[in-house]
Amino acid sequence: MTKKTIQALQKQIGLEAYASQLYLAMASWCDSEGLAGAAAFFYRQSDEERQHMLRIVHYLNDSDQHAEIPGVDPPPNQFESLHEVFQQVLQHEQKVTKAIHQIVQLCMQENDFTTWQFLQWFVDEQHEEEALVRSILDKFKLIGDSPQGLYLIDREIDAINQKLLNAPQQ
Ligand code: FEO
Repeated sequence: MTKKTIQALQKQIGLEAYASQLYLAMASWCDSEGLAGAAAFFYRQSDEERQHMLRIVHYLNDSDQHAEIPGVDPPPNQFESLHEVFQQVLQHEQKVTKAIHQIVQLCMQENDFTTWQFLQWFVDEQHEEEALVRSILDKFKLIGDSPQGLYLIDREIDAINQKLLNAPQQ
C-alpha cells in the first residue's frame, strides 16, 4: 500500500465518522420532533456509518498499517424540516461517493489492486444509499410536507427501516 492510498483511507475514516455523527444528530432531532419512523431510520443509519468506518480501520490494521482515529467536527443539530434533512443527507452521500471514487481512481494509478478490490463494496453501498435517499425525497414530491403528509412520510420511512433491519447483513 502506498503512502497516498493510506492517507486517502485515513481521510475516509474521518468522513465515515462524521456521517455517523451527522445521522445521530438527525436521529435526535427527528426524535424531538415526534418523527419516530425517521428517528429510527437515522439511529440505524448512524450505526451503519460507524460500521463503514470500522471496515476501513480493520482493513488498514490488517494490512500491517496503523489506522489513526481522527476527531470530527460537530454536526448541525437544528434543521428546518424533515425535507431539508433528507436533502442534506443526499448532499453528504454524494460527497462520500465522490471521495470513494477518487480513492478507487488513486488505487488504479498506484497499482494497488487489493485496496481497489476492498473498495468495491463501498462503491456498491454508495450507489444503494443514494438511490434510497432519492426514493425518500421522491415521497416529498408525491405526498407533500403538510402535517398529514409528514405523518404519512414518517410511516413510509418506518416501513423502509423495518425492511432494512430485517434484510440479511452483508
Ligand atoms: Fe458510509 Fe453513507 O457513507
